[in-house]
Amino acid sequence: MQTFQKLNSPPPSLQAFLNHLPGNDFNTVFRSLPGFYKKLKEEGKLGPCFITATPGSFYGRLFPNNSLHFVHSSYALIWISEAPKGFITEAGEGLNKKNISIAKTSSSAVCAEYLEQFKKDFRVFLRSRIEELVPGGSMVLKTMGSIKSHDSIWEFVGLKLNDMFDELQGLIEEEKLDTFNTPYYAPTTKEVEDVIEAEGSFTFQSLEVFRNEWDSYLHSSLDKKARAATYR
Ligand SMILES: C[S@@+](CC[C@H](N)C(=O)[O-])C[C@H]1O[C@@H](n2cnc3c(N)ncnc32)[C@H](O)[C@@H]1O
Repeated sequence: MQTFQKLNSPPPSLQAFLNHLPGNDFNTVFRSLPGFYKKLKEEGKLGPCFITATPGSFYGRLFPNNSLHFVHSSYALIWISEAPKGFITEAGEGLNKKNISIAKTSSSAVCAEYLEQFKKDFRVFLRSRIEELVPGGSMVLKTMGSIKSHDSIWEFVGLKLNDMFDELQGLIEEEKLDTFNTPYYAPTTKEVEDVIEAEGSFTFQSLEVFRNEWDSYLHSSLDKKARAATYR
């Protein structure tokens, strides 16, 4: 807005396309729009703004060629299109048994399959967006970083699921639990860089890593044990 004031010209009108999978309840978003537009008008920081929604997977085309100036993806690329298949040993056992994503006890084969799926999906994402962006367009992508040296929330969810399975003796088939894996992959910086470089359509302006406790916005004054206790 300040830039346009300096240029003595009116701010441009903006069109924003929200994206989610088709199963999302877009009506809730749409119902919130009048209030949002009112707030924007009161703040007077932007020109006219028009928001619409596009149902579909971002692992594929969503918009016409050369139609977007800017893409923002926030904490969504951690959801890969599917959990890797083939996690069953020849003996019919789950290769990632007791875990539901990459965990400290996951084998290197499991990690490799997750990485392959991430690479495949991220490449499709980049290829799709490059068609949709105008020449010179840009993207800001935010995602969860590597879980390899940290505890992942999914490791704990997996442990809890195992406890529940034990408590519910016989209600769930063991094979179902042993072969269940979430389509979640938190890449390392290098893995992100490698895919972007190999795909070749985008150049980096900046790549930053932020370290964040997963519940840092809560109870920041409490120590780890006290924080854990609040989730019981
Ligand atoms: C962790 S939420 C982030 C939400 C929001 N962008 C934010 O930053 O708070 C990730 C969202 O991406 C959606 N999602 C996952 N895979 C998707 C896909 N292939 N295409 C579109 N949306 C997807 C999920 O359903 C989920 O609502």
